[in-house]
Amino acid sequence: MIKKCLFPAAGYGTRFLPATKAMPKEMLPVVNKPLIQYGVEEALDAGLTEISIVTGRGKRALEDHFDISYELENQIKGTDKEKYLVGIRKLLDECSFSYTRQTEMKGLGHAILTGRPLIGDEPFAVVLADDLCVNLDGDGVLTQMVKLYKQFRCSIIAIQEVDPQETSKYGVIAGEMIRDDIYRVHSMVEKPKPEDAPSNLAIIGRYILTPDIFDLIEQTEPGKGGEIQITDALMKQAQNGCVMAYKFKGKRFDCGGAEGYIEATNFCFENFYKTGKAY
Ligand code: G1P
Repeated sequence: MIKKCLFPAAGYGTRFLPATKAMPKEMLPVVNKPLIQYGVEEALDAGLTEISIVTGRGKRALEDHFDISYELENQIKGTDKEKYLVGIRKLLDECSFSYTRQTEMKGLGHAILTGRPLIGDEPFAVVLADDLCVNLDGDGVLTQMVKLYKQFRCSIIAIQEVDPQETSKYGVIAGEMIRDDIYRVHSMVEKPKPEDAPSNLAIIGRYILTPDIFDLIEQTEPGKGGEIQITDALMKQAQNGCVMAYKFKGKRFDCGGAEGYIEATNFCFENFYKTGKAY
């Protein structure tokens, strides 16, 4: 059983400056809810109740969000405004939240390694809150991945096909197709130029990792951009054992940039806010 979900959330969010100068990028609202709340809801839907967040300087709003706001709640008690807090209260009731700080930004692999004391020696999920994932027609993306983990018992990474010109924004995999939506990964490259990309199958911000990944990250030298890349550590895991890549069902919005953020906003407005499912 996977119970833990790690949220690396120490990054600066420079693509959203100046909005992210004093506010964590994970707190940017998509309509009425901060990005990270969508991710935590997806985790809880998948049965992951132990939420671990890797924060950094200037990120205290994250901890305050996942806590009681006593004055506010007292103020709206007994009014019809209480409905706005139903969703966040459910998260507080059903999940536990633990935090650790990443003091230096040394890449996603390093951020995940920083979360090791919160995770220990068990398989866990990783959510990059920038990637907002929704599936209106069934299971959420993490739920789909947890089901696959039960079948394969190895690391699972979510992938999607991207425009071949866009590979330099992503980790890109190559592998052997074992079902129309599952690949056994043979190689992976972090942010390759289109001419160097092994395919157009891009990694998106949902992972299930087996705990041996921590030692592999420790042995991983800085890679692309001088950062310790989870893609490089996963590549070692793929050589040693098994890493599966899964073409998930649903939509993914890159909310780390303006275009994806606006698309997500329009989508959530139409499908959740207008239909009364936004709280
Ligand atoms: C990270 C990973 C990359 C992955 C991407 C998904 O990159 O390093 O492999 O494709 O997340 O969003 P970042 O977007 O943090 O630069």
